[in-house]
Formats: sequence, structure tokens, C-alpha cells
Amino acid sequence: MKDIESALIEERLYRPTKKFQENCNITAEQAIKQHADYKFNPESFWKGLANQFIEWDKPFTKICSGSRPFFKWFEDGELNVSKNCVDRHIKNTNNAIIHISESGKKENISYKKLYEKVNRFSWSLKKMKLKEGDRVIIYMPTIPESIIAMLACARLGIIHSVVFAGFSSESLKDRIIDCNAKAVITVDGFKRSGKLIESKKVVDEAIEAGCECVKAVLIFNNLNLKISKNKIDFTWDEIAPRESVVVDPLSMNAEALLFILYTSGSTGKPKGIMHSSAGYLLNCSLTSRWVFDLKENDIFWCTADIGWVTGHSYVVYGPLSLGATVLIYDGAPTYPDKNRFWKIIEENKVTVFYTAPTAIRTLMKVGEDSPRSFKLDSLRLLGTVGEPINPKAWVWYHKMIGLGNCPIVDTWWQTETGANMIAPLPGISDLAPGTCTKPLPGIETAIMDTNGDEITNANIGGDLVIKNPWPSMLRGIWNDENRYKQTYWSKYNGKYYITGDTARYDDKGNIWIMGRSDDVVNISGHRLGTMEVESALVAHINVAEAAVVSYKHEIKGEAIHAFVSLKQNTKKLDNSKYADELRQWVKKKIGSIAVPERISFSDMLPKTRSGKIMRRLLRNLARGEEISGDTSTLENESVIAQLREIL
Ligand code: WTA
Repeated sequence: MKDIESALIEERLYRPTKKFQENCNITAEQAIKQHADYKFNPESFWKGLANQFIEWDKPFTKICSGSRPFFKWFEDGELNVSKNCVDRHIKNTNNAIIHISESGKKENISYKKLYEKVNRFSWSLKKMKLKEGDRVIIYMPTIPESIIAMLACARLGIIHSVVFAGFSSESLKDRIIDCNAKAVITVDGFKRSGKLIESKKVVDEAIEAGCECVKAVLIFNNLNLKISKNKIDFTWDEIAPRESVVVDPLSMNAEALLFILYTSGSTGKPKGIMHSSAGYLLNCSLTSRWVFDLKENDIFWCTADIGWVTGHSYVVYGPLSLGATVLIYDGAPTYPDKNRFWKIIEENKVTVFYTAPTAIRTLMKVGEDSPRSFKLDSLRLLGTVGEPINPKAWVWYHKMIGLGNCPIVDTWWQTETGANMIAPLPGISDLAPGTCTKPLPGIETAIMDTNGDEITNANIGGDLVIKNPWPSMLRGIWNDENRYKQTYWSKYNGKYYITGDTARYDDKGNIWIMGRSDDVVNISGHRLGTMEVESALVAHINVAEAAVVSYKHEIKGEAIHAFVSLKQNTKKLDNSKYADELRQWVKKKIGSIAVPERISFSDMLPKTRSGKIMRRLLRNLARGEEISGDTSTLENESVIAQLREIL
């Protein structure tokens, strides 16, 4: 990788208001102290926080043990995550969850009610003979029952794996098989943008295609749809206890797995990222307090779907561990119209709002009249996640949604890191649009050059790495220790955790994320491996070869451009028909998010003499750039001219 010269220099600075500074959870003095405490003694720093944020059933004596790349945190301690998120707040008078459905129904769930529901659900899981260590797939939209199901699993030490409800039956099947899940929890169906999605049918398809490991399917009735029932199916109404029940939370070892969450890598199938109980909970909890500044009287709306890590850490585990109120909305941002988000904020007096740049850009496009016609002054803090936010969108968000008064926390983190790693502390950081600023106390990052040295100068890009272990770090990839070592620890002599992102400093030492260094694309803030899309395309009967690259997209951040060569004997259909067919195919194989925006057909793809497709050239072409770098290893130079013609 050549060092990446940085192009964008952003000069504007935004300070938090005096009122915000006076009321924030972590003040400038406290932040200085936290950084100093960490530097002085990392172990006692983490020990203090673990005792402050977590209610332990059995206290720990060990803090961080193990050696690279396998670490354990608080390994002799015991706790229950569900108890930390629910039981200890049952006397709270605020709601735990406010749920708004796409059709406009609203449900408030107090902590006491949540406690009852989690207990009932746990009881039912036990009745299904599920026990500690079993894996259970949750294939549901973002409704309270998904949160309840997660917390019920946590209560019994069952490892949950939430699969995004927009994934196809094949994607679901792959994940079920990979983690050898014993049960699937799903809904009859749900609506998104007014369109019906029949989840139970998708589960049936996945199981029919061969998931012998699944011994039971639990169906929660979300829409009152008629469903077909198989031998292993239980409906919620059949299995739920008739009266209220109490199921004691199991004291779990700190290192017991809480969940597996699948995410894309640059090669091969999705990786089952494993997270532990105590370490994960600690970072979620403390970042909810420090970065989102959450207090019990806040109404926190994190728009993420429960199927992504943001939905795990900042819809469920972080805010609930603090006893705050989370708002969830299970619909599309622009349904039934472009005002939906702002209307929800006004009606529910949302105080902290966390969303993705792609949503901001979508809403920005519909114009300023929309947010202007709503009262958004309940908001006091805004956040973004998932991809770099372009300064224009940042400034619009600050002005139009935050009315110039709300700090914006641009939070950098990953499925693998479990919680925010690089983010502003909203009461003290000077904010510049486009940078996620500096690592949080306790987190040590570096940017590395191609020689393996740390970059300290401004505006030179390199690999972003994390130097020291942290409690919520991934514990590995399910069933694939080698891939874990290879993907995250193979460079730099195994000394540092490799994030897969490239970044640079500005002259104030703020970190700017520049993009991925591997073949992972970031579409609307969701990670996808280009390989996954390529494998889906070549699995089509008429496709000989396919190469997938990304290009910049105004709303989605990045979009997919697929170059496809069809098999010789393929009937001559017009290309747009093939393109439609392939889009449908990818949707079926992976899900709508993976559908290529552009498809170009070509008899030939650029290849090296050893037969490797040169994706670098295709990337240049898709992005309308000059062809850069060496082309001398190209087997057939004329292919570039041919490709230019069809674009
Ligand atoms: C990208 C989502 C720039 C990054 C929490 C990372 C970001 C990947 C930011 C992880 C941000 C996330 N600024 N880029 N604030 N946040 N990313 O696992 O490339 O779905 O590696 O976790 O998203 O995506 P994931």
C-alpha cells in the first residue's frame, strides 16, 4: 500500500455550549484524570470501571490475562448481563423501551414490565429445552420482543446470534449452520416501507434447505398472519406461561460468550464475531455514559437495526445497563413520508439521537422544510456511526437537526471492537466535521506506515491499529481460530489488532477515517465483502466470471459496480434483462443490501498473466478515475479500451 496523501482539510471547529458542558457526565477535568489513570496503571483503571459499572455476582480478582491474540478479562468474576440490564432497574420510574411501529402504534415498556416479559420469555426458552451454551438464532425486526429474546437468552447463558431480518433464506441458513444453532426465534412477518416480509416463510425455506441442527422454531405473532406449522414450530401463544413467572438469572463466568454476530470479511463466508459477557458489557455501558452522555431521564433513539452491532451495543446492552430509556422504531426513515424521523423526535421528546450518515444524506436531500416544521429542541446530543460522515452532511445535521446547540459524536468502532473506540467526549471536545477525533480513555490506537513504523505526522494515511487489549474486544471468530489470527493479527509481527481501516491525523491530532484497506465495501453503513457478492454472481448458471468493486455514491456512501462476463453459450438476451435477473438473484442469495447498483457485461475481464482479475483497474474504471499503477502484468491490454466503451 502506498502512503495515502490526504486531500481533505477541514478547518471549522465547533465547541459544546456552556449548558452542555455544565451538565455532562464527563467533564474536562474528569477526562484528564481518566487518561492519566489509564497511563499510570491500566489494570487499576479497568478494575475501577468494572466495579463501578457492573453489578457482580462474584467479584473478580484477575483483570486482563492471556497473551496476544487471546485475552480474557475479569476471568474469575461472575455476573449476569440480563440482571445488569433489567433487574437492577425495576424500581426505576422511567420506561425501558418506547416502541413505535411503522404503522404508527406506540407501546411503552417500563423496567418492571420488561422484567416480567424477560422472565416469561426465559421460562419459555427453558421449556424448549434450551440451556447454557446453546446457540439460538434471532431472526426478527427491531421490535421489543427481539430485545426481550436477547435478554432472555442472556439470562440463561444461551448464546444469541441475531441475523438481520432483511437477509435471505440462504444467508440465514449459512449462519444457522455455521454456529450449529439449536433453535430459531422469529416472527410471522413484518412491514418495511409498507411492504410485507414474511419472516417465518424465510425460516422454513432455510430449514428445508438443510439445517438439521435446529430442533425448535419459536414464532412470535407480530402481524397476525396465517402461518404454516411444522413439527418443530411453537407459537409464542402456545408456549408462553399462563401466569407471571420468575426465572432466576444464571451467574455466568465473565468470559462466557454473550453472543455471536456475523459480519463480512474480505474473503470467504461471513465471520461469526464472538463477544464475552463482562468485558463487552463494560465498554458498552461506559461509552453510553461518556460518549452518549446518557442519564436516566434521557430518551435515546439509536436508529440502528437490532441485526447489526450498533443495535446490540446502543439499543440494548449499553443504554439498558444504565437504566436509560431507548426508543425503537421498526420502519423506514421516509415512511409514510419524509417527515417521519422528525415527527418521532418531536412527539417523543427524544434527547439523544444516533444514526448513520446515509440516513442523514437521504433526509438532507428532501430539503430543509421538513425538519424546520418540527420542534426538535428536546434534542441535546447527536451521533453518527458506520462510515465517514462528509463535512457537508455533518454541518447540515448540526444546524438543521441540532439547531446549532447539540454536539455531534462521530463514533468510530466495529463489530469486532464491541463499543465506541474513537469518539469525542461531547462536553469537552472541539469538534471538526468529518473526524471521529481521538481515542477514548483506555484505548490506544496508532496509524502505521508500510514499513511498520508509527506515523506521527499529519495528513499521511496508513493502517489504523489498536495497540492494547480492551475489555470488549472480540474473543475470536466462531469455529475459526486461524482466520482470527490471520485477519486481525498477522501484520506488524502480531503486536497490534488490525482494524482493516486506513486513517490519518490532522494537525490537531484528530483521526480521520479514510476507508477500508481490504475488499470490504461499506454500503449505507453496512459492511459487505465484495467476494460475497462475487460468489453469489458466479453461482448463477449463466455467469462465467464476476468482479465486484465499489464507487462513491451520493446517498449510500459506497455502491457496488459488478463486472460480469456471461457464459459463451448464453442465449443472447438484452443486457438489461440479464441485469434485472442478476439483481434478483443477488437479492435472493444475500439480501437487498448486496444488490449491485451498476452491472456491466463484458466478454473479458482484465487479468494478470497468472489469471487473477485485476480489480484495481476495475475500481479505477467504476470510479471514473485514471488507470493508476502498473498494468504491465495485464494479459490483454486491449480489455481496458473495451471496458471503457461499455461504461
Ligand atoms: C466503518 C459498525 C468512519 C469503518 C459500528 C469500520 C466508520 C466499519 C465509522 C465497521 C465512523 C464505523 N467513521 N468509518 N464513525 N464507524 N465505520 O462492523 O470502516 O458494521 O471498520 O460496525 O464501519 O462496521 P461494522
